[in-house]
Amino acid sequence: MDYKRYIAERVCVEGLSAEEIAEAIAVPPDSSMGDFALPCFRFAKVMRKSPVAIAEELSKSYKTDEVIGEVSAVNGYLNFKVNKKGLAEEVLSRILQEGARYGASETGAGKTVCLDYSSVNIAKPFHIGHLSTTVLGGALYRIFQFLGYKAVGINHLGDYGTQFGKLISAYTRWGKRELVEQGGIRALNELYVRFHREAEENPALDDEARAYFKKIEEGDKECLALFEWFKELTLKDVKIIYDLLDIKFDSYAGESFYQDKMKPVVDELREKGLLKESQGAQIVDLEEYGMPPCIILKSDGSSLYATRDMAAAIYRKQTYDFDKCLYVVAYQQNLHFKQFFKVLELMGKDWAKDLVHVAYGMVSLEEGAMSTRKGNVVFLQDVIDQCIEKAYRIIDEKNPELENKREVAKKVGVGAVVFGALYNSKIKDITFSYDKVLNFDGETSVYVQYTCARAASVLSRAEKRSSFAVCLPCEQEFELLKALGDFPETVRSAAEKYEPSYIARYCVDVAQKFNKFYFDCKILQAEEGVWEYRLALTEATLQTLKNALSLLGIGVPEKM
Ligand code: ARG
Repeated sequence: MDYKRYIAERVCVEGLSAEEIAEAIAVPPDSSMGDFALPCFRFAKVMRKSPVAIAEELSKSYKTDEVIGEVSAVNGYLNFKVNKKGLAEEVLSRILQEGARYGASETGAGKTVCLDYSSVNIAKPFHIGHLSTTVLGGALYRIFQFLGYKAVGINHLGDYGTQFGKLISAYTRWGKRELVEQGGIRALNELYVRFHREAEENPALDDEARAYFKKIEEGDKECLALFEWFKELTLKDVKIIYDLLDIKFDSYAGESFYQDKMKPVVDELREKGLLKESQGAQIVDLEEYGMPPCIILKSDGSSLYATRDMAAAIYRKQTYDFDKCLYVVAYQQNLHFKQFFKVLELMGKDWAKDLVHVAYGMVSLEEGAMSTRKGNVVFLQDVIDQCIEKAYRIIDEKNPELENKREVAKKVGVGAVVFGALYNSKIKDITFSYDKVLNFDGETSVYVQYTCARAASVLSRAEKRSSFAVCLPCEQEFELLKALGDFPETVRSAAEKYEPSYIARYCVDVAQKFNKFYFDCKILQAEEGVWEYRLALTEATLQTLKNALSLLGIGVPEKM
């Protein structure tokens, strides 16, 4: 239930819309004052009265009902108290009825959102730097789907560039088929590193690599076959991680897919008089917009990352007719996105306003946390494996009798990695620490999962509850109920701000409130007429947490 809206529609201030009033409504830090408060200072000008007088007047005209039970005017604030029993009835019945759909909506029906995320580079390590884009994108994908949108997940593969010429050269010289087949990305990366080492001594290698790349572009059968094989090997490795993290894509159209789609873009730019020559290269001047020029073609006529992104954006608009196209990419690429969005706008693509760079901060690993460091690269697979292993050890120590310890450790370990990446506002740089993400008492997924297992255990020990009558909630129950009721709004704002962290934080908040309720109030030992109601509240909590975690891609073990 959207209380702010509910209240706003019933407070009448001349000249102000319900939206404006809803925006002004706040949640007081101390709930003894009220559950919601409307500061009347900002109306003083319009109404030409003192805030105190306005609050008095509004409190008299406001009609209380089964939702808002009490209104009072205090020092220029209009304070509202929610009808607690009404809230309990509304929240519990809604959650128990809607089940796994609680929090979902149809607001996005008929609309399409494209999401470009993870977007791995072929034959390059899938490292910890790819964690955020992968799990943020995956979460946003599920969140938009949950709100009724058609989501299109796109893995814009980095599969174009001279590095593939280098790789073919290295493989032809030093590669062994079986070894590369077995070693996957790591073997390919080693070849690539060796190429650079040897090319320093022997610059002729670079010419060879360029020649190979040219062959790929010209469609040489052998070179293309190798290139496709490198791609296959990379995707096979990456798929293991996608399966663990429950990440899905609807398209793997990468940079090379746009090879034949760039010429029309360049032609259109030229026709519209946007192209300029600069030192042999073709550019779009963006000085007027305070940006360096966007390079479209190099002096040798080859395309750039931005050219391919422009072709991709146009293709996506034509193919999916998106309402929004999101790019979940690190903030290091801020300028790149600003530039090509601008160029599309200058081309007269009015939909350029629907392109959104969802930028995020860097993830680094706590010093000394990785034993399998190879050079400077920390493979994401190693981080996940390590987290699962550490989770296993903790679980084994805490609860050696637990069945399916391996299964549980997998959910806990994967959850810890995902939640660790999603918990902070996405733009922040974060340092990943195993101890922090696996802390059972911290702001972690394992804390939330453990809370779910606790709720599930209460439910499994209870007698069958047929029906229940809502009681007037005590403070702990009321705080929990209010939080549960906030879920739909939390999902909505997570989508609006592209912030899965809202949902992660929400999970911790609900878990904390449930635990307070669990420790302060008897559930199963409560008197007749109360235990049924508390059991329903427990069930509703578990359902809401499951829904929230599943949007983040985190599973809930039955027992822990
Ligand atoms: N492969 C690129 C990288 O690792 C990310 C691609 C992001 N998507 C895009 N359409 N530019 O930096």
